[in-house]
This record gives sequence, structure tokens and C-alpha cells, in this order.
Amino acid sequence: MFDLVISGGTVATAADTFRADIGITDGRIAALGEGLEGADSIDAGGRLVLPGGIEAHCHIAQESATGGMTSDDYRSGSISAAFGGNSCFIPFAAQHRGKGVTETLDLYDSRAMGASVIDWSYHLIVADPTETVLRDELPAAFARGITSFKVFMTYDLMRVDDAQFLDILTVAKTHGALTMVHAENSGMIAWMTRRLLEAGHTAPRYHAPSHPALAESEAINRAISLARLVDAPLLIVHVSTPEGAGLVHDARLAGAKIFGETCPQYLFLTRDDLDRPGMEGAKFMCSPPLRDTATQEALWRHIQGGTFSLWSSDHSPYRFDDTGKLAKGTDAHFGQIANGMPGIGLRLPLLFSEGVNKGRITLQQFVALSASNAARLYGLPQKGSIAIGMDADIAIWNPQETRTVTVKDQHDNMDYTPFEGRKLTGWPTTVLTRGRRVVEDGRLIATPGDGRFVARERIDLTGHPGATVPELDPATNFGVKVAP
Ligand code: URP
Ligand code: ZN
Ligand code: ZN
Repeated sequence: MFDLVISGGTVATAADTFRADIGITDGRIAALGEGLEGADSIDAGGRLVLPGGIEAHCHIAQESATGGMTSDDYRSGSISAAFGGNSCFIPFAAQHRGKGVTETLDLYDSRAMGASVIDWSYHLIVADPTETVLRDELPAAFARGITSFKVFMTYDLMRVDDAQFLDILTVAKTHGALTMVHAENSGMIAWMTRRLLEAGHTAPRYHAPSHPALAESEAINRAISLARLVDAPLLIVHVSTPEGAGLVHDARLAGAKIFGETCPQYLFLTRDDLDRPGMEGAKFMCSPPLRDTATQEALWRHIQGGTFSLWSSDHSPYRFDDTGKLAKGTDAHFGQIANGMPGIGLRLPLLFSEGVNKGRITLQQFVALSASNAARLYGLPQKGSIAIGMDADIAIWNPQETRTVTVKDQHDNMDYTPFEGRKLTGWPTTVLTRGRRVVEDGRLIATPGDGRFVARERIDLTGHPGATVPELDPATNFGVKVAP
């Protein structure tokens, strides 16, 4: 007798699809079989039973370097994630200059504890890699279970220079952590922005040309080169261009420990969305910016071909009011408007509807992109699949249900969705975290605080051999050490 049995569903993992009941005891999957019996049960007849999604790129209760706060906290952010088929999420804990890493993590603990309905961890944003941070605080963060560090190559108050980037890559590599990077060339963006503004081009639509595609590909190429110099793993987040994706693809073919992520906005929206009347285009401002339809098709090919390990929302919620997008007024220029858009609840329905249901990707690719790859890359071996002994993190989907997206149905703390009006088929109906119902048949069951912080492990680099460059070969490099 199990605590809970999910019966009659079609189970899918990143490897297989099969009919089975799932027996759950003490929050873990205890059996897969037929005719299982439990004290409690969920009938999943006609449904798909998938690993709960892991949303691995979202900005929750995070203040920007200039002071703006995202509109979602750990309560609303986690609820919205759960309604979107996620059982775990990994928002960012952002170090700002002059602040320590430990105090930053303590601050985010105070924001997340008692608030999240699903399990969570953080990626640590490193904006001030002082000697103390590199020597003491990053190893301490790793020991605390924070095994991914993100850096920015742009944003004046956040970015690190190439030497600082190398330092962070090196510390991360030494401890088995993954470095993540927002790769855009800061100088190109500043240069273009200045010239556009001088010419009187202030509207949201000019955000797109101010962030040229070349700014992304130049920075991705440089980031990959820096990672290869020290043979460190690196994830390029929110890749938005075919050129950038091609660089990730080529580096992976060469055996480098390079990983790529893309996001729904680059597959479903274009820069034409920025060109709406008045300030409406501000709703579609994110960085890197939206591109064009040819880009969308190219990025689908890279998803199909395996360039991207991760599909994340980059949920960065700023309301369309004076707390968010319009904080600098209704006549602010594009450089003064908060970057980012919401999407945490729609990441998986968009990919299921337009990827699986339209035959662009297999169900196995969907599971890999929604959960399994994130579990492996981010050190969550107990999550991301359906197998005996794993956390019972499960999303039950109705693959036939069709809904039209509207802001009223979203559970985030936002006043718009960039995907308004889109008809999607295939929706999650019930989500469990560690065998506990979070959402059931469209109703919130969990209470804030039910989610737990998950200490993550070192990342799994099996199958990514990497290579030592001659200049850092211990036999010939005059004693220069990679490890700090
Ligand atoms: O525009 C975006 N993506 N804002 C969020 C911060 C970031 O760059 O990921
Ligand atoms: Zn970013
Ligand atoms: Zn982001």
C-alpha cells in the first residue's frame, strides 16, 4: 500500500513512453507497475504523466542594479510556475556591487522561505568578484548547494570584465559549479543607443536595433573562448540569434563544455511586437531583444538538432505601470525602460502545443527540455525524471485541452501577457512536488511555505570531454595554475 498512486496514465520520460501506475511513498517514487494501490489516488486515465518541469531561468523578488523590483515574489512566482507544469524552480539571487555573496543568499532565503509552493534553489549572480568573494564566498555558496554562478557581459552596474569572468569560471570549475552568462557586447549596445537617441529615436521599437545580433554573437564567441581557455563549463543563457546558436553548436561539436538555452519569446514573438502604438511596445522589451521570423525558424532547427539543452522562460515580470515598465514615465526613452517580460506559466504549454502537438519535437525532447536536462546540468539528480527512488515531482497533462491565453488566467502578479490571444493545445492539470499536490485540476492546493530549498550537487559533465589548451598544459605553461 503506497501513500498515493497515480493510476492509468501514460508516463513519459526523456527516454521512453509507457503505461504504468506510479506508487509514491514518503514523497518519492516507490514503484512503477500495474494495479498499484494506495491510501490516496489520482486517476490519470487519458492523461500524460510527465516529470514536473524545472524552470531554470526566472527573476523572482529580484531588484535590478538600479532599484526596480520584479512584480512576482516567491509566492506568486511559484504558484504561477506550478500552474504552468513546474514542480521546481531556480530563480536568481543577485549580488550587487559592494554586497557580499553570503548576505545576498541570506536575503533571498528570507524572501523564499515560507513563501514558495514548490521546491526551489538559486543561481547566484556575481557582479562584484572581489578577492574575498572568489576565495571564500563562492566556495561557501557552493557548500550551501548553490552550484551555478551567473555573470553579465553587459549592464553597466552588473557586468564583469574578461579577467573577472576568467576568475569566476576558474573557481566554478574547481568546485564543480556551472557558470552561466548573459552574453551581449556592452560597448556595441552603448554606442548604438547613443546614436539612436541622438537621432531622436526614443520609442520602444528602437530597443531592437540598439542590441544588434552581432552584439550577441561577438559576446558569445568571446565567452566561449574564455571558457575554453580554462577548460571550464559554460552555459550561454537566452540565445536569440542563429549566429549565437551556431557558435554554441560548433563549440559542442569540438568537445567544449558549452551549453545553450533559448526562451519562448525568441520562437513566438518578433521585433514587430515592439512596434505597437505608444508605449505598448515596452511590454515586449527584453534583452537580448526579439528578432524576426527567419530567426524563429532557425532556432526551431537548433532545438530539434540538440544545440539547446535548456528551454527557459526568462520570466522577468515588470508591470505595465509606474512600478515597472513605466517607472520613468510614459515618455521615457527605450534605454530607461525595464527589460524583461513574463512567461513562467506559459513556457511549457507553448512548447507542448507548438512543439509536440505540431510534430516539431518528440515527447521525449519535450521532457528533456522541460525538466531532465536542467536536473542534470544544475545538480538535481533526484528530480527531472520518473524512476524509482526519485522525488515524486510530477505534472499530469491533458494533451487535448485547448485554451486561449489571456492575462486573466495567469497566476503571476502581472497585468499583461505577451502571449495574449494565442490558442494552445495541451495543458498541465495537476502538479505534485515530492508527492504533495500543488495544483489539482486547475485549483491551488498547496500553501505558501510547502516548497523546500534544495541544496544542489556538482554538475554532471559526463560526455563533455573538454580540452586543455597548450598555454595551460602543465607540461609547458611555466607553472601557471588554473585552480586558484
Ligand atoms: O530582458 C531580460 N532578459 N531581463 C532579465 C534580466 C536578464 O538579462 O536575464
Ligand atoms: Zn540575461
Ligand atoms: Zn534573465
